[in-house]
Amino acid sequence: MKLKLSVPQWHYSMLLDRERVAIFKEAIKKTVKPNDVVYDLGTGSGILAMIASQITKNVYAVELDPITYAYAKENIKINKCENINLIEADASEYNFKEPADVIIAEMLDTALITEPQVPVLNAIIKKGLLKEGGKLIPERAHNTAQVVIAKMGHIYYDEEVISKPVSEEICYSTVDFYNINKEEVSYNLKFRLKDNNINNNNTNLKNIILGIRLNTYTELNEKIIAGSTPMLNPPLIIPIKNPIIDNGILNVKLSYKMGGDLESIKVKCL
Ligand SMILES: C[S@@+](CC[C@H](N)C(=O)[O-])C[C@H]1O[C@@H](n2cnc3c(N)ncnc32)[C@H](O)[C@@H]1O
Repeated sequence: MKLKLSVPQWHYSMLLDRERVAIFKEAIKKTVKPNDVVYDLGTGSGILAMIASQITKNVYAVELDPITYAYAKENIKINKCENINLIEADASEYNFKEPADVIIAEMLDTALITEPQVPVLNAIIKKGLLKEGGKLIPERAHNTAQVVIAKMGHIYYDEEVISKPVSEEICYSTVDFYNINKEEVSYNLKFRLKDNNINNNNTNLKNIILGIRLNTYTELNEKIIAGSTPMLNPPLIIPIKNPIIDNGILNVKLSYKMGGDLESIKVKCL
């Protein structure tokens, strides 16, 4: 199926990210069955709802932003996907008339920080809107952290992945969207640095910026786990202020609010 899509400028790159669209398309095709009730939360251009609507007639697509909603409405009309029930609302507050067999939610961002994936799905699960045995797309997100030599002294996305790793990559959390998840989280992380030259007695540390690189691996279903793509969870770098390295070990406390903003991220040396 070829879709004709018009979108606000900031949605354009998301649609051009073929890998991002392809993995969601594959997961939807594997999961959605004819007659399933499907929600697409944060539908944006409507692309994922339109893919689902090729399989079932019962699709609810919800979009909060009025401008994006207007584009989705146009796209659904042009592509003759009349069976999609498009709703302009906050997906966490909308009063759905029937529960879902499948819930698609691509409101993802690295470590789930700046998008409302967790608060929205928490609200949906709390209200019992996913039928027993129903499926989520994606099902889980796995978050990792690694110490790197950063390029800048402020928080930034490292889309080109040019920061140099100096520790192992630790998987510090798995967020299972079937559960109600805590939105404010904090983790004590211990890193063993690979490079003996990076320590507090070495002036080298004054010339480099150490940072924590966060990565998110998205589990769409048991067969598809996606790493970052240009528009899906690009690596996020948080510089470490006054790092303390003891015998090659760096201990930090990482905290943030999911569905918050980048300002909620704190990295403190222990
Ligand atoms: C990352 S975009 C993804 C769009 C689309 N799902 C896709 O895959 O192309 C997330 C979308 O969710 C919408 N959104 C954010 N918070 C929302 C909420 N609480 N309820 C409904 N939509 C929301 C945004 O306006 C945005 O269009």
